[in-house]
Amino acid sequence: MCGIVGYVGEKQAAPILLDGLSKLEYRGYDSAGIAVFDGEKINMTKAKGRLKVLEELTHDGATLPGVVGVGHTRWATHGEPSDVNAHPHLNQKGTIAVVHNGIIENYLKLKKKLTGKGYKFVSDTDTEVIAHLLDYYYDGNPLRAITKVMHRMEGSYALGIIFKDYPDELYAVRKDSPLIVGNTEGGSIIASDVPAVLKYTRDVYFIENEEIVRMKKDSMEFFNVDEEAIEKESTHIEWDVDAAEKGGYEHFMLKEMYEQPKAIEDTFSPRIKGKDIVIEELGMSDEEIRAVKKIMIVACGSAYHAGMTGKYVLEGMARIPVEVDLASEFRYRDPILEEGTLVVVISQSGETADSLAALRESHARGAKVLGIVNVVGSSIAREADNVMYTWAGPEIAVATTKAYSCQLIALYLLALKFSKVRGQISDSELSQYIEDLKRIPDQVELLLNNKNKIQKFANRYVAARDVFFIGRGIDYAISLEGSLKLKEISYIHSEAYAAGELKHGTISLIEEGTLVTAVLTQEDLYKKMISNVVEVRTRGAFVLAVTNEGNDEIKRAADYVIYIPETNRFFTNSLAIIPLQLFGYYIAVGKGCDVDKPRNLAKSVTVE
Ligand code: F6R
Repeated sequence: MCGIVGYVGEKQAAPILLDGLSKLEYRGYDSAGIAVFDGEKINMTKAKGRLKVLEELTHDGATLPGVVGVGHTRWATHGEPSDVNAHPHLNQKGTIAVVHNGIIENYLKLKKKLTGKGYKFVSDTDTEVIAHLLDYYYDGNPLRAITKVMHRMEGSYALGIIFKDYPDELYAVRKDSPLIVGNTEGGSIIASDVPAVLKYTRDVYFIENEEIVRMKKDSMEFFNVDEEAIEKESTHIEWDVDAAEKGGYEHFMLKEMYEQPKAIEDTFSPRIKGKDIVIEELGMSDEEIRAVKKIMIVACGSAYHAGMTGKYVLEGMARIPVEVDLASEFRYRDPILEEGTLVVVISQSGETADSLAALRESHARGAKVLGIVNVVGSSIAREADNVMYTWAGPEIAVATTKAYSCQLIALYLLALKFSKVRGQISDSELSQYIEDLKRIPDQVELLLNNKNKIQKFANRYVAARDVFFIGRGIDYAISLEGSLKLKEISYIHSEAYAAGELKHGTISLIEEGTLVTAVLTQEDLYKKMISNVVEVRTRGAFVLAVTNEGNDEIKRAADYVIYIPETNRFFTNSLAIIPLQLFGYYIAVGKGCDVDKPRNLAKSVTVE
C-alpha cells in the first residue's frame, strides 16, 4: 500500500522524509510527494513516477526548507496516478497538509456536502476530502478538528497532518491502516511501516485504531477519539531492515497471505450498502444487467482460475451462461461474441499482454468489457469500459495470493448483484449471502492461524515428485489454483483434475505414496468425491482432504483432513484456498526455494 512519513524536530524535514520514503519503496507506488512548512507557508512538491523524480525536483529536499513536514508514496486507489492526485493534499487556503493511506468509503457523500459549502476540489482522490473536512471543522484546535473528522469518515485511514498555525507540531491518527511513531534525537517521526524509521530509532509506538498522536520535537502525546489523554508503551524493534520490510514475516508471500483478511474486507465493504450490493463502477443500469445473455471471462494464470470459480458462482447463483477462456487462446481463436455478451477481463497487474490483447479483441468485436483489476490506472483499467477494482494493495511476491482472493470476492459481488437484479435471489437470501461475505475475513484469519499444522504436514512432503489435486465443480476450480501455487514456487510437478476425469487416464500415474489433495466443499458431491478418494487410496495414494466442518465421513476415507469453517456453497473457495496456499508455501520453504521470486517467472507478464 501507500507509504507515509512525517517529521517534526530540529533538523531539516525534507531529506528525512525522502529518506524514509525510499525505505518504503518496496511496497510499490506510482507517485510521491512531500509538504514542508517553511515558517510562513506550506510548500509542496509532488511527482508521478519514481521517488528519484521527486528527489531531483526538490534537489534532494533542499528546495523545501523547514523542520516539520509530511511525505507520501502513493499506490493509486481513487483517481489515476498523476502529479495532482499524488499526496500530500492541502485545504484551499494551503494551511493544512494531509497524507493518507487507506480508503475513505463515504468520500463521495462528503465531497458533495463540501462542494455544497463552496469547497473546490482539484484532485480525484478520496484524501482531498479529508483536507477540506479538516478545514471545515477547524476552529483553531487541531485535535478537535481531527476527532470531528474521524466521526464523519467511514473506511480505513492512517493520516499524517500538519497545520500552518502549529509550526512545531505534527499529528497522526489511524483506523484499520498501520501507523507507527517514534522519538529520535531532537525530533519525532511517523511512518506507515518500520523500515522508514529504523535509521532514526528502534523504539516505536504502534498506534491502535482511533488513536491520535500530537508530536513535537521532544514530546509525544496520545489521545482517544474523545480527546482524552491515554498512555502507551513503546516496543523495541529487533528486526533488521530486510525483515522489517516484510513486517517480520520470512517472505512477502507469507505477509501477503496474512494481509488477505483486510484485502478481502477492503474489496467488499465499499460495495455493501445496508442490505444491498451497490457496484457504482459497473456502469450498468438494472435494465442493462437484465439484458446480459452471456458472460465471457478472460484471464491468465491465477486470474483465470478465479474466473473458473466465477463461472460456477455466476451460473449457479445468477443462472447466466458463463464461458471462461485463457486470454492467450481467446485472442487467436476468432471468438464469437454475440450481442448481449459481457466480457470480463481479470488481471492483478492490469498489464498482462495476452489479457490486454483479449480486451482489445473484444472491443474490436463490439463487446462491452468490464475489468476486474488491482492496479489503478493500468492499461487494462484504462481501456476497459468499466473497472471494478480489487483493493488488495501492491503484491510483491510473484505468486499471487491476496490479489487472487480479492478477485474471488469481486466475482461474488458481481454474482450477487446480477442474481438480485435478475430475480434469482430474494432479499432475505441476499442478506444471508452478505452476512456470509462479512464473515470471510475472520474465517480466513482462523485458517491462517492454523499454519503450524499445515507446515508440519508439508515438511513430510518436501521430497514429493508428483502431487495431484482433485475436486468437482467449484472444488475443481480451487484445485487448479492450489496446484499452480505448489508447482510455481516449489518446482514439484503437480496437476489438477476434475475428479471424475481420473479414470480416463490419469489414475495410471497413482502409485504407492503419491500425494493426492482432494477438495470437498460441495455437500451434494461428497459421495462422488469419497468414491474418487477411495479409488486413489486403494492404489497407494496418500490423501489429504480439505473439506467443510462436519464432514466426518471423509475421515474414514482420507489420511489427513483439514476442515474449513462453515459458509454457503458458493463462497467455499475463499476458505479452501488458504490451506492450499500455506501448503505450497511451506513445501517451497522446506525445499529452500526462492519463494518470493521463483525461477523463470515475472510478476507482470507484459510480453506474449
Ligand atoms: C500465479 C500468478 C500468475 C498470474 C498471471 C496473470 O501465482 O500470479 O499466474 O495470475 O500471470 O497476471 P495478472 O493477474 O497480473 O494479469
